[in-house]
Amino acid sequence: MKTTKIIGTGSCVPDRIVTNDELAGVVDTSDSWIQERTGICRRHISVKETTSELAAEAARAAVLDAGILPEDLGLIIAATSSADTVMPTVACRVQAALGNRSAVCFDLNAACSGFLYSLNVAHSMIKSGLCSTALVVGAENMSKTIDWTDRGTCVLFGDGAGACVLQASDDGWISTVSGADGLRGDVLTYAGNTLHNFLTAPLSGETPYMKMDGQAVFKFAVKTVPACINSLLEQAGCRKQDVRWYLLHQANERIISAAARRLGEPIEKFPINLNEYGNTSAASIPILLDEMNREGRLEQGDKIVLAGFGAGLTWGATLLTW
Ligand code: ACO
Repeated sequence: MKTTKIIGTGSCVPDRIVTNDELAGVVDTSDSWIQERTGICRRHISVKETTSELAAEAARAAVLDAGILPEDLGLIIAATSSADTVMPTVACRVQAALGNRSAVCFDLNAACSGFLYSLNVAHSMIKSGLCSTALVVGAENMSKTIDWTDRGTCVLFGDGAGACVLQASDDGWISTVSGADGLRGDVLTYAGNTLHNFLTAPLSGETPYMKMDGQAVFKFAVKTVPACINSLLEQAGCRKQDVRWYLLHQANERIISAAARRLGEPIEKFPINLNEYGNTSAASIPILLDEMNREGRLEQGDKIVLAGFGAGLTWGATLLTW
């Protein structure tokens, strides 16, 4: 076995759909503003589904699609920045839900790049012989990280989970590129909690919710994503015309079109589903991958680029053969 391959996918989103019009009743916004600036029409927001429950549902579907048994999994990684509990991890909760007893389980947080980072780790662990079959699930409850009075962020995000099973194989994984720039981390932050003890006082203006400089993130994304894909393809010796699909992190339709333009590739190679789900952070790429898999749009031998960016700042791109 020379490399690793994705052999199954799954996804799960909450039942409750929130339209742009409904949000216009929550903050000062409009359907036309949201659609024009982002391409988002609606998002699925969890009312009672936890991050772990969404992750477990996506995981069950991926295991079924892969045709393996839960006990075949030697590794479970949950990519998330909105875990329902820090301890136990989402990965351990997924393991319990699947009834697996033999996997190494941990969560990995690289914000919206989390799924790609986790896929890299799973690939490396399989290649080094630590396990032969792994589950990677990107799962988020972004709606719980948001200040619902901040129209600049609350219209952008949605909840959901996507999963894939990765296995040792003779073909599949080709190459990967990833990186981070912590010096630019302040443009997108989420404290989650304010971490005070009885000796310290909260800083004034401190908020546990997500804060974002939207334009700075936008500029970072349109520059970094194409650059990252270009170096990936160069590293792999792969020509653009040989790439069948570019599955980009689903944050904003304008970011995806700008990336396509900069790469000189037709927009038809960049499937989009953010109109339905909004930005589901680490879940966005695996949800899209699962939809395309189930719709029969991925053919054996297709070369696919997965690419993402997010808070940190972080980014990554992976080239694989389906
Ligand atoms: N509805 C109506 N008006 C709004 C809204 C809203 N929801 N949000 C902001 N506005 C207003 C602003 O107040 C501003 O008004 P002003 O001109 O009177 O000051 C105006 O619209 C323009 O605001 P901008 O921020 O300049 O709008 P922009 O065109 O940059 O679009 C957006 C904002 C959509 C957030 C864009 O910057 C973007 O998509 N950035 C990238 C965000 C992203 O991808 N984040 C996810 C990163 S991944 C992760 O790790 C979580």
